[in-house]
Amino acid sequence: MKATEHLEMEHHKIARVAEGCVVFADELQQGVKIPSNILKSLASFLHLYAEQYHHEEEKWLFSMLRQRGVPAGACPIAAISHEDDKLRMLVDQLSTAVDVYAKTDGAVDSTLVDTLRSLAHMYRDHIWKEDYLLLPMANKILSDGDQQILAEAFASLDDRVSEEAYQSLAQLSKAIKSCPLCSTPQEHAA
Ligand SMILES: [Fe+2]
Ligand SMILES: [Fe+2]
Repeated sequence: MKATEHLEMEHHKIARVAEGCVVFADELQQGVKIPSNILKSLASFLHLYAEQYHHEEEKWLFSMLRQRGVPAGACPIAAISHEDDKLRMLVDQLSTAVDVYAKTDGAVDSTLVDTLRSLAHMYRDHIWKEDYLLLPMANKILSDGDQQILAEAFASLDDRVSEEAYQSLAQLSKAIKSCPLCSTPQEHAA
């Protein structure tokens, strides 16, 4: 698999979780109590998988694109880097809001709901830019050899970083599966 395909595959996972943020925001707004372990797993996934592990890989991609002559301030790199900074801040904000939610036994404040909505909105936009602008541009510029070097760089990422990222994904999926609120209407009917 090409390095750019690997990044696109990770985007699918992040996008699905980001869509879940809207569902949680709606439920919380309607007064549904979401178990705090689910929200903690969600914040942890976004921090460890999306912002730490995946972002680390994208830094390699940016660095290689710069080596191949793409200016750091060029579109879409500048816009994407700016959004990456904003997303990191929003994920930190989510972790803090989830801690408050857990400590106050599920008292919902607007910061938690607004942050979940902002994250869903921003990830949707950000991943679109990466899938339809950044990665196609990279596919055009990078040679097969470059893709190979990038894939090897991804594989050489610190074991702890990738292990924590995959554990956070498994943990989130386990938390969601064990939550009665998260089963589908068909599952309730069965
Ligand atoms: Fe990405
Ligand atoms: Fe990104």
